[in-house]
Amino acid sequence: MKIISDIDELRDQLSGQLRTAFVPTMGNLHEGHLSLMRLARKHGDPVVASIFVNRLQFGPNEDFEKYPRTMAADVAKLEKEGVYVLFAPTEKELYPEPQEYRVRPPDGLGNTLEGEFRPGFFEGVCTVVTKLFSCVQPRAAVFGKKDYQQLMIIRNMARQMAMPTEIIAAETYRADDGLALSSRNMYLSDSERAEAPELYKGLNFVAEEVRKGNLSVTELEQAAMRLLDGRGWKSDYISVRKRANLQAPDAAELAAGEPLVVLAAARLGQTRLIDNLEI
Ligand code: PAF
Repeated sequence: MKIISDIDELRDQLSGQLRTAFVPTMGNLHEGHLSLMRLARKHGDPVVASIFVNRLQFGPNEDFEKYPRTMAADVAKLEKEGVYVLFAPTEKELYPEPQEYRVRPPDGLGNTLEGEFRPGFFEGVCTVVTKLFSCVQPRAAVFGKKDYQQLMIIRNMARQMAMPTEIIAAETYRADDGLALSSRNMYLSDSERAEAPELYKGLNFVAEEVRKGNLSVTELEQAAMRLLDGRGWKSDYISVRKRANLQAPDAAELAAGEPLVVLAAARLGQTRLIDNLEI
């Protein structure tokens, strides 16, 4: 595997490659990321990964400085997966001057859920993904459903901007107890790690009730949040939304069987976890 930090060198290395499949990451790779690499292989060749902890998508009080950086271990994992190139630019390479041109998602999708609790997050994500796509020029790129809203925003962005990149969705990779794998799980203490699957249980509770025909979704959402908060969590939201646009369904849409997803974000101690479940 070639490790490249320079954009011109990356372009030289990939010149003539028309079927590149790309997996952008912020590093600290776990099995979930590796499952994205395996899916990428089915959608193109060569597989290119990137590792870049993108300052633009972190709020002032978020964990940019302490975000885990584990380059040597990450490189060994990617080598094993047969990744062809790892693009690992420095901040100076990707943002040599203040990044004044930004890509901002539309208000409806960009300001709800994660967008409400993490202002600027999706603008940072869209801007860096656009820039990474411009460097790698992939035919396909893989994003996990664990970050459901991110996946949807990037898919819409690629479509509306006529990017020549197909956005591929990868299923969420879960531990045996149901916890979705995430780099931030490493912040959890042993007792928090034991508690963490309760978030997924909360999602399952809401999804099961809706499947059984209980369409009082506001009450279900509040009940699930109360349950978590009673166990010591601080929930930001548990919310049933339409899969099509992540807006809240109205009664008629619920009754008509609109495809739904329930999304959650909650803090356990210092760690903020997100998860979701299609209903
Ligand atoms: O999901 C992530 O790891 C990041 O948001 C991404 C897509 C690599 C952009 O920095």
